[in-house]
Amino acid sequence: MADKQEREPFHWQSAISYKVRDRIVIRGYDVNELAGNIGYAEMLHLVWKGEIPSPGVAKMLNALIVIFAEHAMSPSSASARMVMSGAGYIMPGMAGGLLSIGYTHVDAHEAADCWIKAIKLMKEKGWTLEETADYLAKGIRKQEGDAEFVKLFGARKVLPGWHHPQHIRDLRSPRVIELAEKFGVAGDHLKFVVALEDATEKYWGRKLYMNVAGAISACLVDMGLEPDECLAFCALSRSVGIVAHCMEEKNREKGWRASANSKIVQPLDLALQGPDYYDGPKDRKLPKDRVVEPLEREPYHYIDPDEKK
Ligand SMILES: CC(C)(COP(=O)(O)OP(=O)(O)OC[C@H]1O[C@@H](n2cnc3c(N)ncnc32)[C@H](O)[C@@H]1OP(=O)(O)O)[C@@H](O)C(=O)NCCC(=O)NCCS
Repeated sequence: MADKQEREPFHWQSAISYKVRDRIVIRGYDVNELAGNIGYAEMLHLVWKGEIPSPGVAKMLNALIVIFAEHAMSPSSASARMVMSGAGYIMPGMAGGLLSIGYTHVDAHEAADCWIKAIKLMKEKGWTLEETADYLAKGIRKQEGDAEFVKLFGARKVLPGWHHPQHIRDLRSPRVIELAEKFGVAGDHLKFVVALEDATEKYWGRKLYMNVAGAISACLVDMGLEPDECLAFCALSRSVGIVAHCMEEKNREKGWRASANSKIVQPLDLALQGPDYYDGPKDRKLPKDRVVEPLEREPYHYIDPDEKK
């Protein structure tokens, strides 16, 4: 075994960038030359994928950043506001919003993974887009006993990137498809999710629609992004809205979100947390042999001076 001394000293090996005292070089370009000459979406593509994208890809990335940037109250904005109401400064607020993103909110990584597997299978089997969409819809609806399907797509009950609990038919998805076609970036994955919408009717008895994250993930995969990058892209875009919600919470609200004096009942108001809304085990005592430190003091009863009058 090589002696510790003979090992190469630790260093990261990176193809992303390097810096010296007077220069920062990103994917081969001087950062000061990039600044002022390319936009944010192009920079994202350069840093993530190594090249400045074609004009069509750049336009589409910009459109996707815009379409996903803000969506009123959803899990990420509501979480961001709650965290901000307690923490009071931006980083925890942003992180709180981002941490709510995953399998039921956004779901772009699962969706992308599914579309990639479907198109790979289509090519292996020599199926059409419609046949592949039929296989996936049928498999999700009736997967019991289909070990081959489960091995490939996992045991799942819902289509990833599908359905929107508020809009039902997500109004943003058709716009994603329309723009992808216009900018010349629509490929097999986007065509596949369109075919999948049609296939749902046969197996669910009604048409189920892709949501915007389902459409975005298909479009991003067509443009060469990996599943993790698809979710990260959505999270980056939604960060724009999350910051606005954090700042609005900070500048318009007084924090803690539990004041009984507010005109409306706040989500954390005690009135919503009492026994009327509790259906767990009844109040009970620890068994005597578990009590090491007995509770000797009576509970403290606060008497509201206003209530006494
Ligand atoms: C987001 C989600 C949890 C909402 O589900 P929900 O609360 O059940 O939504 P709804 O109550 O409006 O569902 C209505 C019906 O559609 C079904 N449904 C909802 N989403 C579905 C999906 N992705 N695939 C298949 N069926 C779905 C529900 O099971 C329900 O059927 P039922 O009436 O026969 O019970 C669900 O759509 C989901 O998991 N989607 C995949 C993840 C995703 O894309 N998340 C991003 C959303 S922005």
